[in-house]
Amino acid sequence: MEVEQEKEAGTALMALHIPDADYDMLVIPYRDATENLLVRLNTLNRDYRLKYKNYPIHHIQNRIKHKKSIEKKLLKKNLPVSAEEARENLTDIAGVRIICYFEEDIYSVVSLIKKQSDILVLIEKDYIQNPKLNGYMSYHLIIGMPVYHTDGMEYYPVEIQLRTMAMDLWASMEHRICYKEEGIAPDKKERFRNISSELREMENEIKMMISG
Ligand code: GTP
Ligand code: MG
Repeated sequence: MEVEQEKEAGTALMALHIPDADYDMLVIPYRDATENLLVRLNTLNRDYRLKYKNYPIHHIQNRIKHKKSIEKKLLKKNLPVSAEEARENLTDIAGVRIICYFEEDIYSVVSLIKKQSDILVLIEKDYIQNPKLNGYMSYHLIIGMPVYHTDGMEYYPVEIQLRTMAMDLWASMEHRICYKEEGIAPDKKERFRNISSELREMENEIKMMISG
């Protein structure tokens, strides 16, 4: 075993890395769950447009959590670093981001997802009605997506983040600033929070222009 893959923790030797082969196996059903969900979302978007004349979804992004990020998150949670622990404890190995036009589209998409009887809603957080203190807004769902194998069905969690384009602009910029500087300078924090409200106002103004 490679020395650099081990770290002494008390008397036990704890792995710091997930072997590549374990990671590759781990993510297979999460990829399947994601692909199944994407098909359903695209169907919903098309049907909605036929019925109500507008697409609620502008675009969809998805990602499978990288091996390094999984390892980092397990360490942060003080859990052993292994594929099994990741499977048992992480709910964001599969992530799907749905970018909508307007806030009301988000609630329409959420309710359409909830109507799919074989999808479980495990966790729901509404950071639109209750924005975070820094100004972050989005609607988060952790769903259980059924994946069928030869020996039966199992649910796999997928983290869904629903945002408008304005919310996505803000969150992407905030993520970039935080990633670069380990946080926004205190004097800019309030301004950044205000920008979130201003973007929301602009979005509403555009909506009024379109609808009226
Ligand atoms: P994580 O441990 O980061 O996954 O957070 P959590 O378990 O408390 O869950 P939460 O639903 O609050 O956040 C999940 C994900 O939403 C994060 O991993 C980010 O992708 C995104 N997110 C949450 N808060 C913020 C924020 O303040 N800024 C940005 N840019 N993204 C955020
Ligand atoms: Mg996360």
